[in-house]
Amino acid sequence: MSTETVWAKLQSLMGAAIDDINKAADSSILTALEKKYLGKKGEVQAYMQHMKELPPEERPKLGALVNDVRGKIESKIAEVSKNIENAKLVADLKNRRLDLSLPGRIPACGAEHPLQKTQREIEDIFLSMGFEIARGPQGEWDYFNFEALNFPEDHPARDMQDTLMLENGALLRTHTSPVQVRTMLSYAPPIRIIAPGTVYRRDDDVTHSPVFHQVEGLHIEKGLNLTHLRGILELFAQSLFGKNTKIRLRPSFFPFTEPSVEVDIACIFCGQKGCRLCKQTGWIEILGAGMVDPNVLKAGHIDPEIWSGWAFGVGIERVAMLLHGISDIRLFFESDLRFLRQFR
Ligand code: DAH
Repeated sequence: MSTETVWAKLQSLMGAAIDDINKAADSSILTALEKKYLGKKGEVQAYMQHMKELPPEERPKLGALVNDVRGKIESKIAEVSKNIENAKLVADLKNRRLDLSLPGRIPACGAEHPLQKTQREIEDIFLSMGFEIARGPQGEWDYFNFEALNFPEDHPARDMQDTLMLENGALLRTHTSPVQVRTMLSYAPPIRIIAPGTVYRRDDDVTHSPVFHQVEGLHIEKGLNLTHLRGILELFAQSLFGKNTKIRLRPSFFPFTEPSVEVDIACIFCGQKGCRLCKQTGWIEILGAGMVDPNVLKAGHIDPEIWSGWAFGVGIERVAMLLHGISDIRLFFESDLRFLRQFR
C-alpha cells in the first residue's frame, strides 16, 4: 500500500469513527467506540502494520498520520462525552422533586393581635412591679358589677355604663372592676393584682365598641394614699409611652373610689402644643382611678380601718389606639389582614 492509499483509508476510517461517535447516546457506547477505534488492537492501530510495506523514508509520515487521526478521534470522544454528561445533568435536575438550589420558602406565620400585644405589654409592666394576674367571669352578677362597687340600686351612676342585661340579675360585665371585690373575697390582704379582660356595653361608634377590653389594677395595703397611686401610674405611663411622659390627675367621680381621679398623659402627638388628638388641651385622658371606697372594702370583707387601697381601670383599645395612632376602634375587630400585618 502506498502512503496515499493509507492516508485515504485513514481519512475514511476517521470519518466513520466521528459519525459513530456523534451518534453515541450514552457513555457505555462511547467506551466501546474508543476501544474499537483507539484500542491496542483497534482499527487505527491496525494501520501501523502497513509500516513495513512502506519505503523507510515514508514510515515517519505514516506514524504522524496515525497520531493525528488518533488525536482527532480522542478529542471528538471527549467532546461528545461532555455533551452526554451535561444532558444527563439537565435531565436529572428536571426529574428531581427537591431542588436544593432554590431559595427557601418562609412559612406563613401568625402574629399577636395588636390588642393582645398591648394587653401583654401592660401586664408585663405590672408583673415586673410584683402584681399578679386575677380574672373574673364575663357573665357577671349585678351584685359584683354594681352593688358591691357602691352603685346604689336605681342610682343614676349606673347610666354611665349602658348595660347588656342577661336574666335573673345577671349581665355582661360593663367593666373589670367586679374582679376587685371577687379578689378581696378570695384572698387576704395585702393584695396587688391586675385583672385584664373583656367587657361589654351598649355602645357603638368610631371610638366605642360593644365588646372591648380593660385592665383593672388593685393594690390593698396598710397606709396607702393617692401619692402611691400617682407614683405607680406615672411609672406605668412612662413604661408605655416613653420615659419622659408626664401625667396629671384631675378630680372625677366613680362610685367605687373616693377620691376619684381621671389620669391624663401629656399629649404624645404634639408635645403639648395643642392638636386635634388632645383637643388643643395638651393632655390626653388614659384612665380612671382613685382610692378604694371604704364600702367596697367592706363588701370584700376587708376592714377599712386597717387597710386602704387604690385602684384603676384602663381601656386596652384606647391605649393601643394612642400607641399606634389608630383612629377607628372597629379596625381591631374586622380581622383585615392588611391592618393586622402591620403589627408583626
Ligand atoms: N371601671 C371604670 C370604667 O370602666 C374605670 C375605673 C375607674 C376603674 C376608677 C377603677 C377606678 O378601678 O378606680 O369606666
